Amino acid sequence: MSRARAVVALDGPAGAGKSTVARQVADALGYVLVDTGALYRGLALAAKERGVSWEDGPALGALAGALDLRFEATAGGPRLCLDGADREDAIRTLEMGDGASRVSRHPEVRDALLGLQRALGQDGGVVLEGRDIGTVVFPDAEVKVFLTASAEARAERRVKDLEARGQVAAFDEVLAGIVERDERDSSRAVAPLVPAPDAVHVDTTGMTLEQVVARVVEIARGAAAR
Ligand code: DC
Repeated sequence: MSRARAVVALDGPAGAGKSTVARQVADALGYVLVDTGALYRGLALAAKERGVSWEDGPALGALAGALDLRFEATAGGPRLCLDGADREDAIRTLEMGDGASRVSRHPEVRDALLGLQRALGQDGGVVLEGRDIGTVVFPDAEVKVFLTASAEARAERRVKDLEARGQVAAFDEVLAGIVERDERDSSRAVAPLVPAPDAVHVDTTGMTLEQVVARVVEIARGAAAR
């Protein structure tokens, strides 16, 4: 192992509880948290504001390369900054979730964001949360966990999550969005949402947040002890 502290790759579909789990696991291990979905959301937001189509791969790739995307650590967790401005709230909408899924299909976008993600995790001591961390970004991660849950359980969590942010969301609409996003994320040609062959699967349906966090921490500590 070349890193003193591990890279923890936490992958899985939308709404499997990844964000909250990743944050709590990072806290428990004393690691930094990197939410890679926020980078795709930030790109979708920047594209919308600059009139770049979510379907235009080359233009999106160029935009991703030119943007200053970074995370600012705060007491409430990392916040996405886009060209120096805090855009964390603006990226946490259903629209930007959909936009992120659309922009993330383009190979030019994935290439442009790959180096940034690797730089954020290169020293270890980091939990990277995403879709392709264990397969593409850090195939040599010491710890790989793939979180899943039924689409219904995930939709229920997303609705609660959005409500907590003061947004009204209909369950059926959120469920349909999740099923559609799963399909798009899993079937895209580049870096599709598939578990790494060596990832440990954790199905969180019916598990409490505490149970999931404890299980992932246990997997991470077990791997680090090897
Ligand atoms: O986790 P999230 O909902 O913030 O992710 C938004 C979209 O970004 C998701 O639908 C797929 C894409 N994404 C990706 O393709 N690769 C990642 N590592 C993270 C997110």
